[in-house]
Amino acid sequence: MNYQLVLIGFMGAGKTTLSQALGRANGLPVLDTDELVTQQAHMPINEIFSQEGEAGFRQREHLALLHALTSKPAIIATGGGIITQANNRQVLQSLTVPVVLLTASPAEIKRRLAGTTDRPLFKKDWPSLMAKRNGWYTASANRVLPTTGRAISELVQELQHIM
Ligand code: S3P
Repeated sequence: MNYQLVLIGFMGAGKTTLSQALGRANGLPVLDTDELVTQQAHMPINEIFSQEGEAGFRQREHLALLHALTSKPAIIATGGGIITQANNRQVLQSLTVPVVLLTASPAEIKRRLAGTTDRPLFKKDWPSLMAKRNGWYTASANRVLPTTGRAISELVQELQHIM
């Protein structure tokens, strides 16, 4: 099987949870750009941001995306800010595999991310960050899957149909 599926979306949209569930359900490896970055840097995300700035993190994230895409079959989960970089948008738009945008309502994102500690960009003004990014998310995806109020099992089933 030569299958690949990419999940994108804002922080708290469910990329990590659903990629894990989908990988398990299909016996496919899961690659998460955040995980690849932290493994490669030997530092948690907060520390990469404080030592190298967001620019340093984005450079690492771009390489992680390219690396993840060399792996087939795989389910690929991306960091919420991947679409802020033109080079990543270009890569995502050039893919012929499903690039699924997961969405969630602001209230749901707030609920899911309550108590999060390793997300340096999840600050008080996150709704404006989300608003600023929305056009980039839709431009980078070829499918959209709303997740608010839906069970993980139901969402996995929908993703199976896309696969
Ligand atoms: C970020 C989202 C995070 C992580 C980093 C930056 C963002 O990933 O890549 O903290 O800019 O939205 P998740 O979307 O998995 O939380």
